[in-house]
Amino acid sequence: MAQLVGGFAVSHTPTIAFAQDAGKQDDPVWKPIFEGFEPVKKWLAETKPDVIIYVYNDHMTSFWMRHYSHFAIGIGEEYAAADEGGGPRKIPPIKGDPQLAEHLAFGMVADDFDLSYWQGMGLDHGAFSPLSVLLPHSDEEGWPCRIVPLQCGVLELPIPKARRFWNFGRSLRRAIQNYPADIKVAIAGTGGLSHQVHGERCGFNNVEWDHEFMDRLAHDPESLIDIPVGELVKLGGMEGAEIVMWMLMRGALAPKVNELHRSFFLPSMTSIASMVFEDAEPDPSPETKEEYAERIYADVAPALGLEGTYPFTVTRSAKAWRINNFLHSIVEPDFREGFKTDFEALAEEYALTEEEKTMIRDLDWIGMIHYGVIFFNLEKLAPVVGLGNIDVYAAMKGMSVEDFQKTRNAAINYSVEAEPAQ
Ligand code: FE2
Repeated sequence: MAQLVGGFAVSHTPTIAFAQDAGKQDDPVWKPIFEGFEPVKKWLAETKPDVIIYVYNDHMTSFWMRHYSHFAIGIGEEYAAADEGGGPRKIPPIKGDPQLAEHLAFGMVADDFDLSYWQGMGLDHGAFSPLSVLLPHSDEEGWPCRIVPLQCGVLELPIPKARRFWNFGRSLRRAIQNYPADIKVAIAGTGGLSHQVHGERCGFNNVEWDHEFMDRLAHDPESLIDIPVGELVKLGGMEGAEIVMWMLMRGALAPKVNELHRSFFLPSMTSIASMVFEDAEPDPSPETKEEYAERIYADVAPALGLEGTYPFTVTRSAKAWRINNFLHSIVEPDFREGFKTDFEALAEEYALTEEEKTMIRDLDWIGMIHYGVIFFNLEKLAPVVGLGNIDVYAAMKGMSVEDFQKTRNAAINYSVEAEPAQ
């Protein structure tokens, strides 16, 4: 069974990444950041979590207005540093944990939290600014643990109430406790504390509130969770409302915790703080792991194992990300043209495996479904190779097009191509 070893809260700001990358560790102006983080670093080195569930928000880098969701769980195999406008930081990608992500996804959805799932996008300073200080890393060795990033969309209002973040944390605790693998899990809440980076109020800080918040978070967290988000903005600045993610982390811990560490430093715009907690009392899951598993899979279970049916689960999505991403790129005109003129070069560029290349070359439609390609990417491939949807359906069933058409009310064929050849 998984063990929740504790949680930590930490501010995230580009300042931290800048100080780290510019080698300011011993510069008196920057040193307090590193000194404040040192006990967190030591705690992580001693507790050695296998996975950190990393609650953070992206800053309109990988997640922005095209599609903005509130609770987005990373299901990918690995995460690289995002390009935030000045090129990505030179740090190695960190491994993800798709299996744990799937378990958490089933657990949270069963508890009525509406999640979104993502992969193939970079982590911005919301994740890597503290992580790169807290964990050792190198191109050769990588990172000492995996992460499951939970991106919280807190920048485009309205956002969920603080209580919703807290409840999310409570549910997440049960999901972690009932994860069958024998691993150590830590949870991180990031963001804040008080700061505002836009408008005439930019530069706002409220140190008194920051300290009160940390006190209450440690010892009376439920006194915080009914504060309206707008009130949190008044108290801690517009972007300081990110502290709802600290509440989520705290919700995942026992009601009583030991506060092992606290640091606070306000160098410029953002109060940079850190805290470490461990449970001070048992707070076990009310369900056995068997009961929990039965409950969280109950809704989907009837479709699992159904003959000729391949539910596109989080695990399938993560496993077949590379080929799905390749086929989805057909929506881009340049890629589409490249596919038609030099498939081999494009397949090489996208690092497809030989198995994946062969399935596409052979138009092995059912093979691709078995492998984990979602049908709607096959539907994009069909017109590029001059076929229609009916050709794909017939092939998946091992029938001729003519025979398949006889099973329909009309003998037609069609595709998603905008201007199909007549
Ligand atoms: Fe932030």
